[in-house]
Amino acid sequence: MTGQGPVLGIETSCDETAAGVVDLARRSGPVLADVVASQVALHAPHGGVVPEMASRQHLVDLPVVVDRALAEAGLDVDGLGGVAVTVGPGLVGALLVGLSYAKSLALAADLPLIGVHHLDGHVRAAFLEAEEPAGDYLALVVSGGHASLFRVVAGHAVPWYRLLARTLDDAPGEAFDKVGKLLGLPYPSGAAIDRLVLEVPVQPVSFPRARIKSDGGRGVTHRAFSFSGLKTSVRHHVEQVGLQPLGPGEDPRDRPDVVAVLAGFQEAVVDMLVGPTLRILGEEGLDALVVVGGVSANTLLRRRFAEACAARGARIVIPAPRWSTDNAAMIAAAGALRLAAGEHSGLDLNADPALALDGPAGSDRPAGPPSESP
Ligand code: KG4
Ligand code: ZN
Repeated sequence: MTGQGPVLGIETSCDETAAGVVDLARRSGPVLADVVASQVALHAPHGGVVPEMASRQHLVDLPVVVDRALAEAGLDVDGLGGVAVTVGPGLVGALLVGLSYAKSLALAADLPLIGVHHLDGHVRAAFLEAEEPAGDYLALVVSGGHASLFRVVAGHAVPWYRLLARTLDDAPGEAFDKVGKLLGLPYPSGAAIDRLVLEVPVQPVSFPRARIKSDGGRGVTHRAFSFSGLKTSVRHHVEQVGLQPLGPGEDPRDRPDVVAVLAGFQEAVVDMLVGPTLRILGEEGLDALVVVGGVSANTLLRRRFAEACAARGARIVIPAPRWSTDNAAMIAAAGALRLAAGEHSGLDLNADPALALDGPAGSDRPAGPPSESP
């Protein structure tokens, strides 16, 4: 049931100001508009996202981005059926800009409001252009802030997530960005590392792989990825061999010594994600895997996951790279599904920078084990 019409999504959890319009009932494809204003150039000189600058830039960009998304969809606010907004996790000041805007718009236009978990949005991005598996499946979210592996439980009107593993320390995108910075690449460096390794033929440096660990935090035993040891191995190697990072203006394609380190690092990250994920897929008795989040745009990661799933006859869904990285169509899609299920959020909805996801997708309902599938 998706009868509520087009939903506007708003995403401001980090350094992209995004608005999108999605109509889940549209046969030719649900996305009516997708506008993203990136703050990469603003933060790059600082080597990472500066939270206060991010909030201020969202304030400037968001009204323009929303207007552009509505124009792209050929709608005004009266044509909308609801407003969906990311409420967490993310930078609190940045989240509050999107949330305040969404609340004002919902109130002024008398539209239902729905708060969306950022990772629920990433998972729904997989189904903007592909069918959702009919039964339970695994969903791996790999981004600048997360490495989270969920079992998504079928048979509910809204997605139910069971958290199976997460990272103990760095997220994989964070590791890409830190290793890139160490070797002199501009922030964020994930996409640049991906491209360089494709362009420059090198023998990758070999780095040790961390085994997936047990994480007994919060009274729940999850398995845990870990990427900070790899980052330290890269730093030790750079120091040991006396590798000079890229100088200002130096073309990294002229530095196969640097690319060999980046290639070895990327191989290790991909191995440390593919191996445990496929093992857990088997342990959970599942045959469908979804991989989303900014790092799922990585060429090597996409190829290795596709090969590993093909080898065991499992279905894999990885969205096109534009839906891997942060966007608001994914937030609109997640919100539209929950609005269609009869949910909505109150105007007292608040941002939560550390919002958990282990239970139903709704951010304003208590988490718990899913009931039996019908
Ligand atoms: O999902 P996303 O856009 O934002 C977060 O929610 O974090 O992910 C951004 C992260 C950054 O760390 C960026 O370096 C990484 O995704 N990334 C990549 C690639 N494209 C983006 N990492 C590896 N290979 C890529 N092609
Ligand atoms: Zn994200």
